[in-house]
Amino acid sequence: MNPTSTDILTEVRKRRTFAIISHPDAGKTTLTEKLLLFGGAIRLAGTVKGRKASRHATSDWMEIEKQRGISVTSSVMQFDYEGHKVNILDTPGHQDFSEDTYRTLTAADSAVMLIDSAKGVEAQTKKLFQVCRKRGIPIFTFMNKMDREGRDPFDLMEEIEQLLGIRSYPMNWPIGSGKQFCGVYDRVKKRLELFKGGDHDEIEVREVSGYDDPLVREIAGDYLYEQLQEQLQLLDIAGDEFDLERVASGELTPVFFGSAINNFGVQTFLENFLQLAPEPTPRNSTQGVIEPTYEKFTGYIFKIQANMNPAHRDRIAFLRICSGKFERGMSVKHVRVGKDIKLSQPQQFLAQERDIVEEAFPGDIIGLFDPGIFRIGDSLTQGPALEFEELPTFSPEMFSKVTIKNALKQKQFLKGIDQLTEEGTIQVFRTTVGFDEMILGVVGQLQFEVMEHRMRAEYGVEILLQRLPYQFARWVVDDKIDPSKFRINSLLVKDKKDNYVALFENEYAMRSAIEKMPQAKFLETAP
Ligand code: G4P
Repeated sequence: MNPTSTDILTEVRKRRTFAIISHPDAGKTTLTEKLLLFGGAIRLAGTVKGRKASRHATSDWMEIEKQRGISVTSSVMQFDYEGHKVNILDTPGHQDFSEDTYRTLTAADSAVMLIDSAKGVEAQTKKLFQVCRKRGIPIFTFMNKMDREGRDPFDLMEEIEQLLGIRSYPMNWPIGSGKQFCGVYDRVKKRLELFKGGDHDEIEVREVSGYDDPLVREIAGDYLYEQLQEQLQLLDIAGDEFDLERVASGELTPVFFGSAINNFGVQTFLENFLQLAPEPTPRNSTQGVIEPTYEKFTGYIFKIQANMNPAHRDRIAFLRICSGKFERGMSVKHVRVGKDIKLSQPQQFLAQERDIVEEAFPGDIIGLFDPGIFRIGDSLTQGPALEFEELPTFSPEMFSKVTIKNALKQKQFLKGIDQLTEEGTIQVFRTTVGFDEMILGVVGQLQFEVMEHRMRAEYGVEILLQRLPYQFARWVVDDKIDPSKFRINSLLVKDKKDNYVALFENEYAMRSAIEKMPQAKFLETAP
């Protein structure tokens, strides 16, 4: 029997699907682990950590992928917490960074921005933030490592505003930092949460009448008390008002201070987050907006994870459920190919274990066994054919010239390149002057390595990659393009659809090209 939209609504209301965006070492693994522990999803601390420890180098990662087939365990984690179903989408950092990381963000309804309070907003956080910004999803900030000497909290807020262009609203405020850190003042609940060091299984809470309560002085001491008064008065006068609508549209980020490793501030964060973060949101499609409560099952594929093991060509396609109810074994329409398919081996991921999913709802992510029938962006539906909005493409930042070692393999090489481009593994360009050369563009080093590996394993082709010095790609739209203008620190190439793309070595070269050609448009992605 088909579920009614009321049944689905009950499930939708429980769900929160988000991604953690951060720079490597900010503490994402630690925070994720603590969150999972709250949900009782993993019993032993260190489970998530163990996974990370074994992924220090990409080559190790490849070995691991080979040994255990497909690595999907880390891609999505689901846990229950006080009636909620929480889905955390993993956005890998370090060498694992790739275009998939960006695409994964399209499957999230909100993001948690994790910042090391000693370092502030770092490069990778900024990149990931910008992708979230474009979608206008709400962003929640966790200022981590308050147990260490950090930067002034006002400085951090200002940096968020300057570098990211988003205002912030501190939900709580740190009392001291580093050795002197004695906890936070909760501005919403008007209470103190006391920091004791070590692992906080339970937080000691003191209710107060306000931040000027004598108890605050007693606990913080004169110096920190005076400092706190000054800072909070300033915030009350000059800070932004809390406004849920501005949070929802991504203009204002609620900020929480804490220390993930000490499990301090994590539960408060989680509880507030669950209250303020959006339920699974509607998605645009060729049939208009699809509400999550629409009774027919719909979803789209945002990531395909190839198997690194040459003996197993199968892959896992990750699907975000947009509406309706998913049931194991159900038949759905694969819209692009116009065929019905049966979804019989869906998987859901929980820390280290892979479970077979019997049913799932909007906001959930399921992994579908993919014998090569799916592409990124494919839509599946139980009702009338519809296609979800195309996934965005991203401007590559690393480039390599690619050649084959054995010229006799040219045919397989081209087939492989075509297939991998289509899957979104890499972007391909061709030179416009001199020899016809092929150039690959990616956002993360891992993509080159996956490419090399898959060309060898799936197409039997050894390739040579030669890194090029370019860092920026801009699609040039102009009535008449003069290639001679792209000689210094730049290169003019064409993409698959014959659009002109200029590659630049640095920002200076890019800016001067833009200035020299005021009539031309320089776009970050294909027009
Ligand atoms: P990542 O996934 O974002 O890369 O970061 P991860 O959680 O691995 O944390 C990076 C380092 O920061 C780890 O130390 C971790 O213990 C530490 N860390 C995380 N949260 C906090 C915090 O609230 N306070 C302090 N002081 N440190 C924190 P490491 O030395 O690299 O690893 P390990 O030897 O502790 O495992």
